[in-house]
Amino acid sequence: MEVINTIAALKSLLGPIKLAGQKIALVPTMGALHKGHVSLIEAARSEADIVVCSIFVNPTQFTDPKDLERYPRPLEHDMAMLSASGCNVVFMPSVKEMYPVPEHWHIDLGPAEFLLEGEFRKGHYQGVTQIVKKLFDAVGPDLAFFGQKDYQQVLMIENMVAYFDLPVKIVTCPIIREEDGLAMSSRNIHLNPEDRKHAVVLCQSLEYIKGYFEKAENQYSKDKLHLLEEAAKRMIQQTPGVALDYFVIADGKTLMPPTADHGSGLVVLVAAKVGETRLIDNMILS
Ligand code: PAJ
Repeated sequence: MEVINTIAALKSLLGPIKLAGQKIALVPTMGALHKGHVSLIEAARSEADIVVCSIFVNPTQFTDPKDLERYPRPLEHDMAMLSASGCNVVFMPSVKEMYPVPEHWHIDLGPAEFLLEGEFRKGHYQGVTQIVKKLFDAVGPDLAFFGQKDYQQVLMIENMVAYFDLPVKIVTCPIIREEDGLAMSSRNIHLNPEDRKHAVVLCQSLEYIKGYFEKAENQYSKDKLHLLEEAAKRMIQQTPGVALDYFVIADGKTLMPPTADHGSGLVVLVAAKVGETRLIDNMILS
C-alpha cells in the first residue's frame, strides 16, 4: 500500500496505470475508519483494479469550528484498517495541498441542497461537492464509492457530477450497523455509555416506519404518513439525552414530502443530537 501526500505524486503514480487501461476506484473519507468505510473499500476492490482511499478532514464542509477541531484523527488505526482491507493507495493531502489559495466555490445543486442537513448545516454540501470535485480531479477515478449512510450527500454528489458532466460512475453502498442497529459513524466514539444506549432509538424509529411499509406493502395515504412520523418523533423525543433535529418520510430523489397517496421510492431520514454528538441515519422504504 502506497501512502501519497501530494497531487503531483498521485498523478505520476496513477498515470501509467490509466494508460495500461486499468480501472481506478476512489473511496473518499475523512478518516477515523470503521467497518462502514471498509465495506466501501471492499466493494471498490470487487469492481476495480486499483483502489485509492483518500483521508482528508475537509474544513470547507464543517459549519461548526468545534466539530472540525474535535474530529477524530487516529492515523495508525486508519493505516492498519486500510492495509488489512486491501486498499492500494492512500491519498492523505494537507489542507494547503487541497486549498493552496483561497477559492470561491458555488454551484447549483438543486433545491434539495437546502433541505434537511442543508437546513441545519448551511453551506455543507457546497463544501462537500467542492472537495469531492478536487479529489476526482486529482485521482481521475472510473468509479467512486459512497455510503447510503449519508443519503443526501450521495444525491448532492450525483448532482455535482451531472453539473460538470464528469466521466465517473457513482456507486452507493448499504449502511453498516452495530449489532443493536446503530449506524456506524466516526462520531460514535464521542458517545458516553448512557448516550450510546439511547442512540439506538434513531434506528428503532426508522425500523418502526419500515415495518409499517412492509406490512402495508407500500400502500399508504398522506394522512397515515403524517401519523407515522408523529409517532416516531414521540419515540425519539421521549428518549433521555436525545434532541431531534428532523424526522421525515420523503421522496427519495427530491427529499420533498411525498406528493402521491401511494407509490414507491420513499426514504425515511432522521437527525438528532445525542448528548453532544449529532447523528444521522436513514432507511429506504420501498
Ligand atoms: P466520512 O464521514 O468519513 O465518510 C466516508 C464515506 O463512508 C461516506 O461515503 C459515508 O457515507 C460512508 N459511511 C460512513 N458511515 C457508513 C456506514 N455506517 N455504512 C456505510 N458507509 C458509511 O462522508 C464523508 O466522510 C465526507 O463528506 C467526504 C465524502 C469524504 C467528503 O469530505
